[in-house]
Amino acid sequence: MEKQIESAYKVALKAREKAYAPYSHFKVGAALKIVGHDEIIPGCNVENASFGATVCAERTALLASVANHGKCEMEYIVVVTDTEPATQPCALCLQVMGEFSKPDTPVYLANLKGVQSKLSFKELLPNPFTEFEPNE
Ligand code: THU
Repeated sequence: MEKQIESAYKVALKAREKAYAPYSHFKVGAALKIVGHDEIIPGCNVENASFGATVCAERTALLASVANHGKCEMEYIVVVTDTEPATQPCALCLQVMGEFSKPDTPVYLANLKGVQSKLSFKELLPNPFTEFEPNE
């Protein structure tokens, strides 16, 4: 595994420890690299008593990257859970990724043993919803 993916994995693991998941007890960590910025942006799931207001780890990282840097392009994302096999992002997160990724953007799936697989965004979501062309 490339060194940079290994260090992103460590960021995702650390973020997973911070997950707020008192309802599902299912902790998820994410680490996002965006084009043109060196830092790795962490994400974790943040649950809510309403359940519906819960935000997944992947979206936490993606939304933080926009809050920090504005419109961004994903270079890759690492997602870590404690499952075997490693869990893949939910459809809502994939739809949000679709806004900021390319078909070949790598998505690394990891568990507590390490990074388990590398998929391209298009393998996970071949046809994201793109009804409107963004203005910018
Ligand atoms: N979760 C994520 O953080 N990412 C996903 O892609 C799927 C699910 C979280 C949401 C919730 O806090 C918990 O996992 C159980 O669904």
